Amino acid sequence: MSDEENKFPGENNTGHFWDDDLRELDNEPPTWWTIGFHASWIFVIVYTLLYPSWPMIDTHFKGLLGWTSIAEYKEDLKSIESVRAPYENKIKDMSAADILADDNLSKYVTASGKVLFGDNCSACHGAGGQGNVGFPVLADDDWLYGGTITDIETSINVGRQGIMPGHAAMLDDEKIDALSTSIFEGKAVENASYTEAGCIGCHGADGKGLSFMGSANLVDGIYRFTAADQLSSIKHTIKYGVNNPADSQSRIAVMPAFGGAKLSDTEIKKLAVYVHKLGGGQ
Ligand code: HEC
Ligand code: HEC
Repeated sequence: MSDEENKFPGENNTGHFWDDDLRELDNEPPTWWTIGFHASWIFVIVYTLLYPSWPMIDTHFKGLLGWTSIAEYKEDLKSIESVRAPYENKIKDMSAADILADDNLSKYVTASGKVLFGDNCSACHGAGGQGNVGFPVLADDDWLYGGTITDIETSINVGRQGIMPGHAAMLDDEKIDALSTSIFEGKAVENASYTEAGCIGCHGADGKGLSFMGSANLVDGIYRFTAADQLSSIKHTIKYGVNNPADSQSRIAVMPAFGGAKLSDTEIKKLAVYVHKLGGGQ
């Protein structure tokens, strides 16, 4: 384009015009922008020199600082472990009861016990130990096998499996109905069948159960086998029993043993303290 066609001679336009006077200028960019531009490419070069960056055929440029995210993670882990070490060393040689008695330690142990509980126990006993149908509540103060820290530790360590025979051959339906109603009303021991059929041998003269064998308390209105129709559920238990291999309708109640290969002694102590704190006990 010649100068005669340029309607704005002397101006630093590029000679591109649209609609008579709309034109492209060739100005320097503003100073702030230029500084920003140079600062950013200098930053990129410095950064890629210092940190792991450019890919190569079977490796990558490692960076002059030698930083890696895995090394940083391991550093963090080390500092966490150095905080834990004094606690872990103490716990190793202490009984669960002594840990429970120590405020500081039991707080520490409860935190890791909660994680262990989530991984190993909540599938059966519920996330906060609130129980599930067929799996006893651990978050109350009602225990089949006793609620002391030692009882709880034993339950976890060696497992539990209460056994009750079925009574269909010994008691007719009428007697089972009447006995179930007595239990439902909290009057188990007042029913003659309670003694005659031998319930007394396992559930005790007062009907409160014996913790060494896990025979449930029958007079507290708390049920270990809960059901919407509790009365029918009681009848079912009396008729077919619990963990009774002679009857396929028997209730199944098996607490697996966690001692030995499954969990370490320290982990079991942590769990015992955690569970004890959920439900309390003596
Ligand atoms: C496969 C299911 C299952 C798992 C997993 C399980 N439990 Fe149990 N647990 C049971 C059953 C069933 C019983 C009741 C046993 C019985 O009635 O004889 C029980 C009983 C107990 C008892 C005794 C309760 C009482 O009233 O005396 C404790 C304590 C206990 N479990 C803690 C735990 C802890 C802690 C874990 C995790 C390490 C765990 N359980 C994992 C099924 C399970
Ligand atoms: C050999 C011992 C034994 C005898 C005999 C026995 N029981 Fe049991 N019973 C148990 C045990 C142990 C449990 C708890 C089982 C478990 O939870 O693992 C139980 C549980 C129960 C339950 C369930 C309670 C609940 O909380 O859900 C009822 C109801 C019951 N028994 C009633 C009776 C009656 C009634 C008799 C007599 C006709 C009787 N039992 C005889 C050992 C016995």
